[in-house]
Amino acid sequence: MSDNRNIVLSNLCDGIQTIAMQAGAYIKAQRAQFKSTSEELKSFNNLVSYVDQEAEKMIVDALGKLLPEAGFIAEESSQLPQMERYNWIIDPLDGTTNFIHGVPCFAVSIALAEYGKPVAGVIYEINLNECFYAFEGGGAFLNGSRIHVSQRTQLKEALLGTGFPYYDFGLTEPYLRLFADLMQSTRGLRRPGSAATDIAYVACGRFEAFYEYGLHPWDVAAGIILVREAGGCVTTFMGDDPGISGARFVCSNARIHNELLEKIQHHFPL
Ligand code: IPD
Ligand code: CA
Ligand code: CA
Repeated sequence: MSDNRNIVLSNLCDGIQTIAMQAGAYIKAQRAQFKSTSEELKSFNNLVSYVDQEAEKMIVDALGKLLPEAGFIAEESSQLPQMERYNWIIDPLDGTTNFIHGVPCFAVSIALAEYGKPVAGVIYEINLNECFYAFEGGGAFLNGSRIHVSQRTQLKEALLGTGFPYYDFGLTEPYLRLFADLMQSTRGLRRPGSAATDIAYVACGRFEAFYEYGLHPWDVAAGIILVREAGGCVTTFMGDDPGISGARFVCSNARIHNELLEKIQHHFPL
């Protein structure tokens, strides 16, 4: 990468958007003709289809040309090489269960990480044609307009996104206790079914916060840079920098972060 970091990152971000939107167009076209016989189970409740796999191939191929020195962390292809400095982190279709069942909330999520820190990210929510993107130092955007996290300062006026446990049920009880508490102390909770979209909604101020456990780097990496560049805060349930981990993930508009962390830490074994 050249010295003029901002220009390089900005150009890369443009390239990522084009690639995410091309993959999105493919996914949308396939949805129109998708048959449930094409669904496969990777493990319990962990669905995949040829659409996830083909979209990922298109994305990997195109990103390889955009920055040949970068490696890959991609949901559907564990055999791709990783590099020390730059890695692409790819979820070709976030919200596969929604996609397979015809529920219209699913997205392409692509991040570029430098030494394990996201520096550029794009989340393209296909059905609403909403392209969220950000690069380090450049701000966060939705379809060309600058976005910011919300200004609300209290949990009681917050709308939250979350994801329900669906394979790791060991923490179901604390999860449900926290959920019950937040039902009574916030404006409400939503479970759209695409973590990347949930995080993008925090970045643009629709949600004040989002939390989930058991997520993977490809679910959160693009969202991390997006929320940070929109003025928000991203941590683990303990309040630490998550790097690119989604294991215990919480992001917010920063203003309600401590109030939410207190509740999470109260209910969750740490
Ligand atoms: C899933 C979605 C979902 C979240 C799951 C993810 P996938 O990703 O983001 O909202 O609750 O934890 O695994 O499997 O559809 O790419
Ligand atoms: Ca995902
Ligand atoms: Ca996926």
